[in-house]
Amino acid sequence: MHTRVLGKTGVMVSAIGLGAMPLSVPDNRPAEDQAIEVIHHAIACGITLIDTADAYCLDDTETGHNERLIGKALRQLPASRRDKVFVATKGGLIRPQRRWDRDGSPRHLRAACEASLQALGVDCIDLYQYHRIDPAVPLSESLGCLKELQQQGKIRFLGVSNFGTADLDAARNMADIVSVQNEYSRRHRLPELVPPGQPPRPEPDTIGTLAYTRKHQLAFLPWSPLNGIGQAKSLGTTDAVVAGLAAARGVSPQQVVLAWLLAQGPQVIPIPGASRKSSISDSVKAADLKLTAAELSALAKI
Ligand SMILES: NC(=O)c1ccc[n+]([C@@H]2O[C@H](COP(=O)([O-])OP(=O)(O)OC[C@H]3O[C@@H](n4cnc5c(N)ncnc54)[C@H](OP(=O)(O)O)[C@@H]3O)[C@@H](O)[C@H]2O)c1
Repeated sequence: MHTRVLGKTGVMVSAIGLGAMPLSVPDNRPAEDQAIEVIHHAIACGITLIDTADAYCLDDTETGHNERLIGKALRQLPASRRDKVFVATKGGLIRPQRRWDRDGSPRHLRAACEASLQALGVDCIDLYQYHRIDPAVPLSESLGCLKELQQQGKIRFLGVSNFGTADLDAARNMADIVSVQNEYSRRHRLPELVPPGQPPRPEPDTIGTLAYTRKHQLAFLPWSPLNGIGQAKSLGTTDAVVAGLAAARGVSPQQVVLAWLLAQGPQVIPIPGASRKSSISDSVKAADLKLTAAELSALAKI
């Protein structure tokens, strides 16, 4: 598997990561032993970046479900393989009655980080991402708390998610931010649309964040890179350009989309979600799929 450097950290991770959310959210989530097999399979396929969050669970009665699965799966591996895996988690969302609410208060983030350490079974979290800005809490308070946790050795690197360019400017003045995780896929192309400098739009305004991350050497982790859990399978029927290229190349539409994302810049590291081993076996092949200039130009049209 090809590797990419995670922002300015110097840490190399697989060019295709694993989004672990489908192993824990409602609708067809697998049983625990199967979920652990899926995680082991991803690592056997060469994946060394796993994305999770404390909020990937059914509701707040089982916060940390996804992190516990990953922690358990990793503990079953020999240290030599386990140590190669870089786990990125997130805090700042809560799941009362299955809702996705925000809590960016220092009190919550401190407790959430401690719970994530325990759920993952580690002393230090590789990458802790502030999941989504809580408008009720000044960003300086939320990031100030995460910076303190980093200084205490509980977090190795800090990242953010669902951030626009103005938020990123502010965040980078407050903490050493190494990565941004924003939605980016064939159906959601705001990050690439126009360069930064446009007037801010209502949240979530992620316009221009792709160019921004390249300029400032931040890793860009596209979330829902295959159009999301409900639409990933139908890419071959909903996107004619992707379907045509996939047929011509003899690869899956999902591989074409992931290869297109990888071609958007060396900072881009897609994290396709998966609850089946076959999805992972297919997606990792995208790391070796080099699209031609003509193919990329066909895919660039919106
Ligand atoms: N930061 C945020 O706010 C945020 C929000 C949403 C998601 N995320 C992260 O981003 C990750 C990815 O997003 P996502 O899971 O929502 O959506 P996604 O990656 O666009 O789609 C996931 C679905 O794609 C299917 N799939 C994956 N590879 C495939 C392949 N090669 N062929 C056919 N189907 C394939 C999987 O099916 P099977 O389940 O059948 O394997 C899975 O259900 C999440 O897991 C999570 O880690 C972050």
